[in-house]
Amino acid sequence: MRAIIIGATSGIGEGLAKKMLAEGWQVGVTGRRIELLEAMAATAPDRVFAERMDVTDPVAAEAGLAALIERMGGADMIVVSSGIGRLNKALETGPELETIDVNVVGFTHMALAAIRHFEGAGAGHLVIISSIASRRGDGAAPAYNASKAYQASYAQGLRKRVARKGLPITVTDVQPGFVDTAIVQGKVFWLQPVEKAVDQIWAGMQARRSRVTVTKRWRFVAWAMQRAPERLWHKV
Ligand SMILES: NC(=O)c1ccc[n+]([C@@H]2O[C@H](COP(=O)([O-])OP(=O)(O)OC[C@H]3O[C@@H](n4cnc5c(N)ncnc54)[C@H](OP(=O)(O)O)[C@@H]3O)[C@@H](O)[C@H]2O)c1
Repeated sequence: MRAIIIGATSGIGEGLAKKMLAEGWQVGVTGRRIELLEAMAATAPDRVFAERMDVTDPVAAEAGLAALIERMGGADMIVVSSGIGRLNKALETGPELETIDVNVVGFTHMALAAIRHFEGAGAGHLVIISSIASRRGDGAAPAYNASKAYQASYAQGLRKRVARKGLPITVTDVQPGFVDTAIVQGKVFWLQPVEKAVDQIWAGMQARRSRVTVTKRWRFVAWAMQRAPERLWHKV
């Protein structure tokens, strides 16, 4: 089986790449830090395919994805894990727009390229890593939560599209709580180790679930985030 992971240089994407390698998959890995991808490729040169990619350069990123699919002779699964998050208490415009550039515009280009590939092939599995942040807007990084809500809704839309076409294509929306990666800034609670999150994400992916919220305790937080009265939500 062959998977491509967009945003595999670190964190959840890197963890998933390693997990899938251990499970015997061929893995295409992308991101801007090519040296990290090449180091991973050196560990299994016949099964890891590295491609430098910046999703904010959509023409090059789409060409890179197409080249990677060709090098691997196809892709059964594409994971979009690329993403940024910037705490923006001063509410500056720059970080908000950068977040939209990667998490909305870049994401859309990659999700579209993936779903077009699967529709052409007649089957496949698109996995997106959104967040429990998708469940409710937040003041510390408004664009981040909004971008994650966009991703979750986009996944829903693609899922409906392929269902109506009767295609055996799965779209899985992964919604983690805090995971111990570079994206997490400041003091947070219930930080889950990457390996623990990856194991649970992998189980949900294998079960071809529509939505995977990790870990279990974060499922409760996500549920509460959606239902808390506004006055309470504004206090946390
Ligand atoms: N950690 C958490 O608590 C948490 C919780 C919920 C959801 N998530 C989501 O999980 C996903 C992965 O994040 P992470 O936690 O694993 O953090 P991370 O270690 O910072 O990983 C982010 C990945 O995105 C890639 N990326 C960023 N900008 C890119 C660009 N312009 N073009 C291509 N790739 C780009 C990075 O690669 P390069 O820098 O090499 O390009 C890196 O591989 C993100 O979408 C994040 O929002 C994380």
